[in-house]
Amino acid sequence: MKTNEILENIKARRSVRAYTSQQVSEEDLQAVLEAAIYAPSGMHLETWHFTAIQNIDKLTELNERIKGAFAKSEDTRLQERGHSKTYCCYYHAPTLVIVSNEPTQWWAGMDCACAIENMFLAAQSLGIGSCWINQLGTTCDDSEVREFITSLGVPENHKVYGCVALGYVDPETPMKEKKVKAGTLTIVK
Ligand SMILES: Cc1cc2nc3c(=O)[nH]c(=O)nc-3n(C[C@H](O)[C@H](O)[C@H](O)COP(=O)(O)O)c2cc1C
Repeated sequence: MKTNEILENIKARRSVRAYTSQQVSEEDLQAVLEAAIYAPSGMHLETWHFTAIQNIDKLTELNERIKGAFAKSEDTRLQERGHSKTYCCYYHAPTLVIVSNEPTQWWAGMDCACAIENMFLAAQSLGIGSCWINQLGTTCDDSEVREFITSLGVPENHKVYGCVALGYVDPETPMKEKKVKAGTLTIVK
């Protein structure tokens, strides 16, 4: 199988769900965010926005507001999360990037997914762990969540399509081996 540094980087990336408290440097965060804005976007509209949060108190408040929205849900699993004292949707990562877009084009979420994967791979190449965090996608229109993300800088006309947790892998938490599903590739010649 052919390989190179980029292909190895793609295969080495994993979702990280346990982080140390070490913060991502300004320089590394800038590099990851720059990778995001170089992603492709439908018709090159670039209507997305990336709101990076490195303030632990603000991240804690965001998690509390998301829990508040879950507590109002009719889904019992979400209610449990909403009332849990320990639940943290971003796994206490020191940095969280909210990825939002105008919901006007049907591909708005796809633009965000391209940018998110670019961020994952850029982070991996810098020795930084990452994970897709989806909980703000379903809660961003809850009034208390919306009020808070607006104060953080998420444009009011945007929907959140995902978030990226960033930080350093906790060495105490072993990572499971990646298994890829067979039979998902077809080559027609
Ligand atoms: C659209 C999408 C949403 C995801 N949402 C979450 C999430 O909210 N929390 C989480 O821990 N992982 C989330 N993940 C990560 C997946 O669970 C993970 O990619 C998958 O288990 C494969 O593992 P790997 O990323 O280590 O290869 C999400 C991934 C994608 C693509």
